[in-house]
Amino acid sequence: MMVTCKKYVLVKHFEGEPKPSDFVIVEEQLPAIKNNEILAEAEYLSVDPYMRLHVDSFPTGITMIGIQVGKIIESKSSKYPVGKRVVGNFGWRTHTVINIEDEKKYSMGLPHNYILPEIGDLPASVGLGVLGMPGNTAYFGFLDICQPKAGETLVVSGAAGAIGSLVGQIGKIKGLTVIGIAGSDDKCQWLKNECGFDHTINYKTQNVDVELKKLAPDGVDCYFDNVGGDISTTVMYQMKLFGRVSVCGHISSYNTDINAKPKTTILQPAIISSQLKIEGFIITRWADKWQEGIAQNLKWIQEGKLKYRETVTHGFENMFNAFAGMLKGENTGKAIVKV
Ligand SMILES: NC(=O)c1ccc[n+]([C@@H]2O[C@H](COP(=O)([O-])OP(=O)(O)OC[C@H]3O[C@@H](n4cnc5c(N)ncnc54)[C@H](OP(=O)(O)O)[C@@H]3O)[C@@H](O)[C@H]2O)c1
Repeated sequence: MMVTCKKYVLVKHFEGEPKPSDFVIVEEQLPAIKNNEILAEAEYLSVDPYMRLHVDSFPTGITMIGIQVGKIIESKSSKYPVGKRVVGNFGWRTHTVINIEDEKKYSMGLPHNYILPEIGDLPASVGLGVLGMPGNTAYFGFLDICQPKAGETLVVSGAAGAIGSLVGQIGKIKGLTVIGIAGSDDKCQWLKNECGFDHTINYKTQNVDVELKKLAPDGVDCYFDNVGGDISTTVMYQMKLFGRVSVCGHISSYNTDINAKPKTTILQPAIISSQLKIEGFIITRWADKWQEGIAQNLKWIQEGKLKYRETVTHGFENMFNAFAGMLKGENTGKAIVKV
């Protein structure tokens, strides 16, 4: 089968907010597959905050980076039969030919491709969210780093996003009191009514410092930080003695030129006086335990303990809008594009 693929080529590195003109959509004629090769057709593609940062480390001219769930429509590999779904780090493209034997095991530190595990009635898109990279980031990044104990208080920023919404629910599973900080009343309602968060703060309409003092008068034990900036400074000044902070992301400054060394608030007094343990991580740390995280999150979903939501944008031609919208907070739960 000869197919024509569409792909997004990065023609300009982002300056400030990404712009549609930073990409062009290009057509590419794919060759017929050979032995050990498969042809995958993208069904769902992921748009993620890391893309805003990481494309800077690649030259222009690359196919935009990203993970997708593709359906195998042609195969010359018995391990990857036609009809199965493959989760692959193939980039923003509609069709991909890969050689299963030759393909590198990891790309950007994560498994390059694998057959989507058995997920029952769930949609294949969960392979990009709760049962994929964000789900594993929540599971390992929270539990391994914060070492939470029942009865403790957890604050999550970016709480209504793909990772934050799961971290808060895992906190509830582990018996913590959970406070989520998110950017709209609708998001806060969802966190409380469906995800079981105990409390929420809308950082756009409420004073985080004042509200957090009311909600956690004795202080915060664990902070899962998705956003950095002022929100995180405020939380860290309200930590308990020996509090633990898992630094996952700093989306509030992704459009800022870090090399310009913008002025920041001073955190050392809080770190020293509360003897905080602050640890950053990259999810690649747990690449060898990938399927373990997926299996645990799937079990929690099946037990009704873990809820997930996806904000689905339709159409490959709307990839950029989905990406830009996610960076601005238009998503609740995982931002996904359905081809
Ligand atoms: N360390 C790792 O290995 C790793 C892996 C994956 C992701 N991450 C990081 O984890 C974080 C969450 O990722 P995700 O995939 O779950 O994304 P997400 O939370 O689903 O989407 C991004 C969200 O960030 C919020 N946001 C945007 N600008 C903000 C600002 N100035 N201040 C506060 N919040 C802002 C928006 O929600 P609101 O409406 O609430 O503003 C938006 O919905 C990101 O920082 C990402 O880079 C890290």
